[in-house]
Amino acid sequence: MPASGPVTSGYRPTEGAAAFEAVELTRSYRLEGVSVDALRGVSLRIEPGEFVAIVGPSGSGKSTLMHLLGCLDRPTAGTLRVNGVDVATLDDSGLADLRNQVVGFVFQSFHLLGRTSALENVALPLVYRGVGRGERRRRAREALESVGLGHRMDHRPSQMSGGEQQRVAIARALVGDPKVVLADEPTGNLDTRNGEEVMGILARLNAERGVAVVLVTHEAEVAARARRRIHVRDGLIELDDAAAAPGDAR
Ligand SMILES: Nc1ncnc2c1ncn2[C@@H]1O[C@H](COP(=O)(O)OP(=O)(O)O)[C@@H](O)[C@H]1O
Ligand SMILES: [Mg+2]
Repeated sequence: MPASGPVTSGYRPTEGAAAFEAVELTRSYRLEGVSVDALRGVSLRIEPGEFVAIVGPSGSGKSTLMHLLGCLDRPTAGTLRVNGVDVATLDDSGLADLRNQVVGFVFQSFHLLGRTSALENVALPLVYRGVGRGERRRRAREALESVGLGHRMDHRPSQMSGGEQQRVAIARALVGDPKVVLADEPTGNLDTRNGEEVMGILARLNAERGVAVVLVTHEAEVAARARRRIHVRDGLIELDDAAAAPGDAR
């Protein structure tokens, strides 16, 4: 954990814990009295430093699972521990702390502020941690340099290609020094060349910095770059190749 920034409540990291440990997770959505069971009992364990691809048909529950892992949402039932902390024990502000300190998110459609410079987009998560302006800019610059965008810091996302925008989003995910990067179809809106570049950055992040990467993809070539694949179907894990090769997980 970086020394800067106050811990406002609730969350205390646990040394040596799994990055994620889910036991019989369910998530149901209620829409106009109709209930949709998006996840129907998912159990998994992801260790620090793993590189995992979540694959499965559209509507199978992949994004729902990512939102739970990323503490953007809470399970309907079951247990989820993130970094050893049971999310059910945290209030909303404790959950927000956990999210801020442990995970970085990358979305298919980038989710950047289009009219704000790349530098300010990347620095934004540090505002919520109480990091001072000079330090925010220094760390944002470093994160942009690490994704090869040191020369684009003052550009706005609206002036950038899709591949560049996704690299800005990765820099934003990295600026808080997360233990895990969660990426929901990060190459889904990119052409092959830009998709490969984004995957290269994520793979390097995993190999060189030991950041765990969990990504959702439809593309077999993207999934093949991960060291473990979890297949989801109809809200359940259909196949997890960590089960076939347990020694693979560090
Ligand atoms: N906010 C929501 N409200 C209601 N239903 C939802 C919501 N989000 C997802 N769902 C439903 O949950 C199921 C799983 O969705 P999702 O997790 O987005 O799947 P995937 O990412 O694999 O395409 C789908 O049937 C979807 O329509
Ligand atoms: Mg999805």
